[in-house]
Amino acid sequence: ENKPRTPVLWVHGQECTCCSESFIRSAHPLAKDVVLSMISLDYDPLLMAAAGDDAEAALEAAIEKYHGNYILAVEGTPALGHDGMACVVGGRPFLDQLKHTAEGAKAIISWGSCASWGCVQAARPNPTQAVPVHKVIRDKPIIKVPGCPPIAEVMTGVITYMLTFDRLPALDRQGRPKMFYGQRIHDKCYRRPHFDAGQFAEQWDDEGARRGYCLYKLGCKGPTTYNACSTMRWNSGVSFPIQSGHGCIGCSEDGFWDKGSFYDRV
Ligand code: SF4
Ligand code: SF4
Ligand code: F3S
Repeated sequence: ENKPRTPVLWVHGQECTCCSESFIRSAHPLAKDVVLSMISLDYDPLLMAAAGDDAEAALEAAIEKYHGNYILAVEGTPALGHDGMACVVGGRPFLDQLKHTAEGAKAIISWGSCASWGCVQAARPNPTQAVPVHKVIRDKPIIKVPGCPPIAEVMTGVITYMLTFDRLPALDRQGRPKMFYGQRIHDKCYRRPHFDAGQFAEQWDDEGARRGYCLYKLGCKGPTTYNACSTMRWNSGVSFPIQSGHGCIGCSEDGFWDKGSFYDRV
């Protein structure tokens, strides 16, 4: 209890804010406990009370005070095109803010598929030349937490691990925490027995769909998607896309927007 809380700066590039929307719904641990008791969230234009110049002044003060010791959390992509002016924060390109904040960070968390892979902003034709964080910042450890958005408890779980053990979680070759991205959706999907038995829904409203058969023939990307949805599920473990009747679209995989994930049959 006497240990100083780890400072976290949370910056926002080109994003839809649903990574933050997911985060604030974490139930285990509660997001409020993470923000108010576990970390010191010294900058986050979405959640902090200050705005405008006061917010930017708080950012500069935190960078100076905690230089080399804070975690930088990034939601969204930097834009390389148009001199970075497609995404402006505090009157300057987000690209500059990202480089500036990364310089003093001890580690970076890339929240969601935007920061991890580029996601919808980087989908063809990528008019802003959006890129993932690791294409801009190459000299810091980066933890990718992909998903569009990531599961709330995966986000808070990564933070909890880092605070508890004072080290980065073990990462796979793509930089994702193995504890959450070590298995495919398909490996633990509750419809897997139907896949193994050759029982497939052929139409969204056919008898097979009503019986809960496997959605592979309707384009489910569970066999090639690494995420924790089929084990942890969403909304405090209530459900996940496949359980609600829709195949996985591979939202945690690199380039899923351009890989025919939406309603394409395999
Ligand atoms: Fe939104 Fe998806 Fe990007 Fe998160 S990864 S900010 S949910 S578009
Ligand atoms: Fe695999 Fe998708 Fe079928 Fe589940 S619904 S068993 S993830 S193909
Ligand atoms: Fe995304 Fe597939 Fe999970 S679409 S939310 S990785 S089931």
